Amino acid sequence: MIVNGPDFPAMIDALASDGWAEVRGFLSADEVAQLAAISARRRNDFHRAGIGRATGQTVSDDIRRDDVLWVDNLDPELAFVMQRFAGYQQQLNRELYLGLNELELHFAAYPPGGFYQRHLDQHRQQDTRVVTVVLYLNPPDWQESDGGQLRIYLDDGRQVDVQPAGGTLVTFLSNRFEHEVIPAQRERLSLTGWYRRR
Ligand code: OGA
Ligand code: MN
Repeated sequence: MIVNGPDFPAMIDALASDGWAEVRGFLSADEVAQLAAISARRRNDFHRAGIGRATGQTVSDDIRRDDVLWVDNLDPELAFVMQRFAGYQQQLNRELYLGLNELELHFAAYPPGGFYQRHLDQHRQQDTRVVTVVLYLNPPDWQESDGGQLRIYLDDGRQVDVQPAGGTLVTFLSNRFEHEVIPAQRERLSLTGWYRRR
C-alpha cells in the first residue's frame, strides 16, 4: 500500500493489513539532501557488504554488490532521522504490540551495476529482525531508467516494484517477503535497517 508523508497511523494500518508499505515523503527533500551529504562525506569508511552477520560473514559478489556503513544510533548528526524512526517504533509497539527494542541501521551505497539478489532479511531461526525499513537518499532527478528498484514478492504471487526515490521509505515484516534490488545504473543510496526484539 502507498502512504503519503510520515503518517504513522497510515503506516501501521498498511503494515497490519498488507505486511508492507511504501511511504512517499517520509523525509523532506531537504532532509534527504542532508543525509546524502553525510553519507557522501563518510563514503571512504564504507566496506563491502557481506552475507550474514559477525562469524560466518562472507563477501559474496554474486549475491549482493553494495557497500555499507553501520551507524551509531547516538550520532548527533543523525538525531533528526533517529527521532523519526523512534516515532515509528513507538507506534509499532503501541498499536501492534511488537515489543521492538532496538534499531540497527546502515547506510548503503550500490555502485553502478550494484544489486542484491532475491532474499529474505530474517535468515535464521534465531534471527531477531522483525520489521525492515529502507529509506532512499537518491537525488530528485532519479529516473526509472536508472534502475535500482526494490522488487517485493508478495505472498499472493504478485510482485511490486518500488522506485528508490529520495525520501521514500519502504517498510515490511522481515520474515514475510522475499525481495531483491534490481541492478542500478548509477550510485544508489539508502539508509537501511531492522527493528529487533532482543
Ligand atoms: C537489504 C535490502 C533493499 C533496498 O539491505 O537487505 O534488501 O531497497 N535492501 O535497498
Ligand atoms: Mn533485504
